[in-house]
Amino acid sequence: MAFSQACENNKQPILNQLESLLSKSKQVLEIGSGTGQHACFFAANMPWLTWHTSDRAINLPSLNARLAEQAPSNVNSAIELDITQTMPAISQQIDCSYSANTLHIMNQSQVETFFNRLGDSFPKLQQAIFYGPFNYQGQFTSASNQAFDKTLRERQLGQGIRYIEWIIELAGRNQLQLKQDIGMPANNRLLQFVCV
Ligand SMILES: C[S@@+](CC[C@H](N)C(=O)[O-])C[C@H]1O[C@@H](n2cnc3c(N)ncnc32)[C@H](O)[C@@H]1O
Repeated sequence: MAFSQACENNKQPILNQLESLLSKSKQVLEIGSGTGQHACFFAANMPWLTWHTSDRAINLPSLNARLAEQAPSNVNSAIELDITQTMPAISQQIDCSYSANTLHIMNQSQVETFFNRLGDSFPKLQQAIFYGPFNYQGQFTSASNQAFDKTLRERQLGQGIRYIEWIIELAGRNQLQLKQDIGMPANNRLLQFVCV
Protein backbone atom coordinates (compact mmCIF):
# COMPACT_ATOMS: atom_id res chain seq x y z
CA MET A 1 0.00 0.00 0.00
CA ALA A 2 1.53 3.33 -1.03
CA PHE A 3 2.07 5.88 1.76
CA SER A 4 2.75 9.63 1.62
CA GLN A 5 4.29 11.43 4.59
CA ALA A 6 3.31 14.73 2.94
CA CYS A 7 -0.36 13.68 3.14
CA GLU A 8 0.02 12.96 6.85
CA ASN A 9 1.54 16.41 7.32
CA ASN A 10 -0.95 18.40 5.26
CA LYS A 11 -4.25 16.59 5.88
CA GLN A 12 -5.22 18.48 9.07
CA PRO A 13 -4.43 21.98 7.70
CA ILE A 14 -6.35 21.14 4.50
CA LEU A 15 -9.30 19.74 6.49
CA ASN A 16 -9.40 22.92 8.58
CA GLN A 17 -10.22 24.82 5.36
CA LEU A 18 -12.36 22.19 3.63
CA GLU A 19 -14.79 21.92 6.55
CA SER A 20 -16.20 25.33 5.71
CA LEU A 21 -15.57 25.28 1.93
CA LEU A 22 -17.46 21.96 1.60
CA SER A 23 -20.16 22.63 4.19
CA LYS A 24 -22.85 22.67 1.49
CA SER A 25 -21.30 20.10 -0.89
CA LYS A 26 -22.71 16.58 -1.14
CA GLN A 27 -20.95 14.64 -3.92
CA VAL A 28 -17.20 15.26 -4.10
CA LEU A 29 -14.98 13.73 -6.76
CA GLU A 30 -11.28 13.58 -5.92
CA ILE A 31 -9.11 13.49 -9.04
CA GLY A 32 -5.71 11.84 -8.55
CA SER A 33 -6.47 10.32 -5.13
CA GLY A 34 -3.00 8.75 -4.94
CA THR A 35 -2.57 6.82 -1.70
CA GLY A 36 -6.16 7.47 -0.53
CA GLN A 37 -5.00 8.99 2.77
CA HIS A 38 -6.75 12.30 2.09
CA ALA A 39 -9.98 10.57 1.08
CA CYS A 40 -10.14 8.45 4.26
CA PHE A 41 -9.32 11.35 6.56
CA PHE A 42 -11.53 13.97 4.94
CA ALA A 43 -14.55 11.71 4.54
CA ALA A 44 -14.30 10.54 8.17
CA ASN A 45 -14.34 14.16 9.31
CA MET A 46 -17.05 15.37 6.91
CA PRO A 47 -19.74 12.68 7.24
CA TRP A 48 -22.33 14.73 5.29
CA LEU A 49 -20.33 14.13 2.07
CA THR A 50 -20.01 11.22 -0.30
CA TRP A 51 -16.34 11.20 -1.33
CA HIS A 52 -15.66 9.59 -4.72
CA THR A 53 -12.02 8.60 -5.20
CA SER A 54 -10.32 8.20 -8.57
CA ASP A 55 -6.95 7.79 -10.22
CA ARG A 56 -5.24 6.36 -13.26
CA ALA A 57 -5.40 2.56 -13.61
CA ILE A 58 -1.83 2.06 -12.41
CA ASN A 59 -2.64 3.50 -8.97
CA LEU A 60 -5.96 1.75 -8.39
CA PRO A 61 -4.76 -1.50 -6.71
CA SER A 62 -2.88 0.36 -3.99
CA LEU A 63 -5.63 2.97 -3.60
CA ASN A 64 -8.35 0.32 -3.28
CA ALA A 65 -6.23 -1.64 -0.79
CA ARG A 66 -6.18 1.38 1.54
CA LEU A 67 -9.88 2.05 1.03
CA ALA A 68 -10.71 -1.58 1.87
CA GLU A 69 -8.83 -1.24 5.18
CA GLN A 70 -9.48 2.32 6.25
CA ALA A 71 -12.29 4.04 4.35
CA PRO A 72 -15.38 5.16 6.26
CA SER A 73 -18.73 4.25 4.70
CA ASN A 74 -19.05 7.59 2.85
CA VAL A 75 -16.04 6.84 0.60
CA ASN A 76 -16.80 5.06 -2.66
CA SER A 77 -14.52 2.51 -4.34
CA ALA A 78 -11.96 4.11 -6.59
CA ILE A 79 -12.99 4.90 -10.15
CA GLU A 80 -10.51 4.65 -12.99
CA LEU A 81 -10.18 8.22 -14.22
CA ASP A 82 -7.54 9.73 -16.45
CA ILE A 83 -8.38 13.35 -17.13
CA THR A 84 -7.41 12.94 -20.80
CA GLN A 85 -10.01 10.17 -21.30
CA THR A 86 -13.82 10.15 -21.34
CA MET A 87 -15.24 11.07 -17.96
CA PRO A 88 -17.04 8.35 -15.94
CA ALA A 89 -20.83 8.41 -15.52
CA ILE A 90 -20.52 9.69 -11.93
CA SER A 91 -19.37 13.04 -13.32
CA GLN A 92 -23.07 13.79 -13.97
CA GLN A 93 -23.75 13.86 -10.18
CA ILE A 94 -20.69 15.65 -8.85
CA ASP A 95 -21.14 19.08 -7.22
CA CYS A 96 -17.52 19.58 -6.12
CA SER A 97 -14.14 18.44 -7.46
CA TYR A 98 -11.02 18.26 -5.30
CA SER A 99 -7.51 17.63 -6.55
CA ALA A 100 -4.24 17.87 -4.61
CA ASN A 101 -0.74 17.98 -6.03
CA THR A 102 -1.80 17.04 -9.53
CA LEU A 103 -1.40 20.19 -11.66
CA HIS A 104 2.41 20.12 -11.43
CA ILE A 105 2.46 16.38 -12.25
CA MET A 106 0.27 16.64 -15.36
CA ASN A 107 1.84 18.30 -18.40
CA GLN A 108 0.45 21.62 -19.65
CA SER A 109 -1.84 20.02 -22.22
CA GLN A 110 -3.29 17.71 -19.54
CA VAL A 111 -3.83 20.65 -17.19
CA GLU A 112 -5.68 22.44 -19.97
CA THR A 113 -7.79 19.34 -20.60
CA PHE A 114 -8.50 19.07 -16.86
CA PHE A 115 -10.14 22.51 -16.84
CA ASN A 116 -11.98 21.83 -20.10
CA ARG A 117 -13.42 18.66 -18.56
CA LEU A 118 -14.59 20.61 -15.50
CA GLY A 119 -16.31 23.00 -17.88
CA ASP A 120 -17.98 20.48 -20.17
CA SER A 121 -18.47 17.17 -18.29
CA PHE A 122 -19.78 18.12 -14.83
CA PRO A 123 -23.27 19.62 -15.27
CA LYS A 124 -23.92 19.97 -11.49
CA LEU A 125 -20.48 21.30 -10.55
CA GLN A 126 -20.60 24.22 -8.11
CA GLN A 127 -16.97 24.46 -7.11
CA ALA A 128 -13.51 23.06 -7.87
CA ILE A 129 -10.79 22.98 -5.23
CA PHE A 130 -7.05 22.56 -5.85
CA TYR A 131 -4.19 22.15 -3.41
CA GLY A 132 -0.52 22.46 -4.22
CA PRO A 133 2.33 24.87 -4.97
CA PHE A 134 1.88 27.72 -7.49
CA ASN A 135 4.02 30.55 -8.86
CA TYR A 136 2.92 34.19 -8.75
CA GLN A 137 3.93 36.92 -11.21
CA GLY A 138 6.52 34.60 -12.72
CA GLN A 139 8.22 34.00 -9.36
CA PHE A 140 8.59 31.02 -7.08
CA THR A 141 7.18 31.68 -3.63
CA SER A 142 10.12 29.98 -1.88
CA ALA A 143 13.54 28.47 -2.50
CA SER A 144 12.12 25.05 -1.62
CA ASN A 145 9.45 25.36 -4.33
CA GLN A 146 12.15 26.38 -6.82
CA ALA A 147 14.19 23.29 -5.91
CA PHE A 148 11.06 21.11 -6.15
CA ASP A 149 10.29 22.52 -9.60
CA LYS A 150 13.84 21.67 -10.75
CA THR A 151 13.40 18.10 -9.51
CA LEU A 152 10.08 17.79 -11.33
CA ARG A 153 11.51 19.08 -14.62
CA GLU A 154 14.50 16.76 -14.40
CA ARG A 155 12.30 13.80 -13.55
CA GLN A 156 9.81 14.13 -16.41
CA LEU A 157 9.41 16.42 -19.37
CA GLY A 158 6.30 18.57 -18.93
CA GLN A 159 6.08 18.49 -15.15
CA GLY A 160 6.54 21.72 -13.21
CA ILE A 161 4.93 24.20 -10.85
CA ARG A 162 2.22 26.20 -12.67
CA TYR A 163 1.70 29.94 -12.84
CA ILE A 164 -1.41 30.95 -10.91
CA GLU A 165 -2.29 33.51 -13.62
CA TRP A 166 -2.45 30.73 -16.26
CA ILE A 167 -4.57 28.53 -13.99
CA ILE A 168 -7.02 31.40 -13.38
CA GLU A 169 -7.19 32.00 -17.15
CA LEU A 170 -7.93 28.31 -17.89
CA ALA A 171 -10.56 28.30 -15.17
CA GLY A 172 -12.17 31.46 -16.54
CA ARG A 173 -12.46 29.91 -20.01
CA ASN A 174 -14.52 27.19 -18.33
CA GLN A 175 -16.88 29.33 -16.26
CA LEU A 176 -14.86 28.92 -13.05
CA GLN A 177 -13.94 31.99 -11.04
CA LEU A 178 -11.31 32.13 -8.31
CA LYS A 179 -13.11 32.84 -5.04
CA GLN A 180 -10.41 32.11 -2.47
CA ASP A 181 -6.64 31.63 -2.62
CA ILE A 182 -5.61 30.44 0.82
CA GLY A 183 -2.01 30.26 2.04
CA MET A 184 -1.12 26.85 3.46
CA PRO A 185 1.90 25.44 5.31
CA ALA A 186 5.06 24.57 3.37
CA ASN A 187 4.44 27.21 0.68
CA ASN A 188 1.33 25.53 -0.72
CA ARG A 189 -2.00 27.10 -1.62
CA LEU A 190 -5.62 26.00 -1.50
CA LEU A 191 -7.60 27.43 -4.42
CA GLN A 192 -11.38 27.56 -4.45
CA PHE A 193 -13.02 28.17 -7.84
CA VAL A 194 -16.77 28.60 -8.07
CA CYS A 195 -18.94 28.09 -11.13
CA VAL A 196 -20.35 31.29 -12.53
C1 LIG B 1 1.79 13.69 -6.63
S1 LIG B 1 0.44 12.61 -6.80
C2 LIG B 1 -0.73 13.34 -5.66
C3 LIG B 1 -1.59 12.31 -5.01
C4 LIG B 1 -2.49 12.84 -3.88
N1 LIG B 1 -3.55 13.67 -4.41
C5 LIG B 1 -1.68 13.58 -2.85
O1 LIG B 1 -1.91 14.77 -2.63
O2 LIG B 1 -0.81 12.95 -2.27
C6 LIG B 1 -0.23 13.02 -8.39
C7 LIG B 1 -1.46 12.22 -8.76
O3 LIG B 1 -1.95 12.71 -10.01
C8 LIG B 1 -2.40 11.60 -10.76
N2 LIG B 1 -2.44 11.93 -12.19
C9 LIG B 1 -1.40 12.23 -12.99
N3 LIG B 1 -1.82 12.41 -14.25
C10 LIG B 1 -3.16 12.21 -14.25
C11 LIG B 1 -4.16 12.24 -15.25
N4 LIG B 1 -3.87 12.47 -16.54
N5 LIG B 1 -5.45 12.00 -14.89
C12 LIG B 1 -5.75 11.74 -13.59
N6 LIG B 1 -4.85 11.70 -12.59
C13 LIG B 1 -3.56 11.91 -12.92
C14 LIG B 1 -1.35 10.53 -10.43
O4 LIG B 1 -1.77 9.25 -10.80
C15 LIG B 1 -1.19 10.73 -8.93
O5 LIG B 1 -2.12 10.01 -8.19
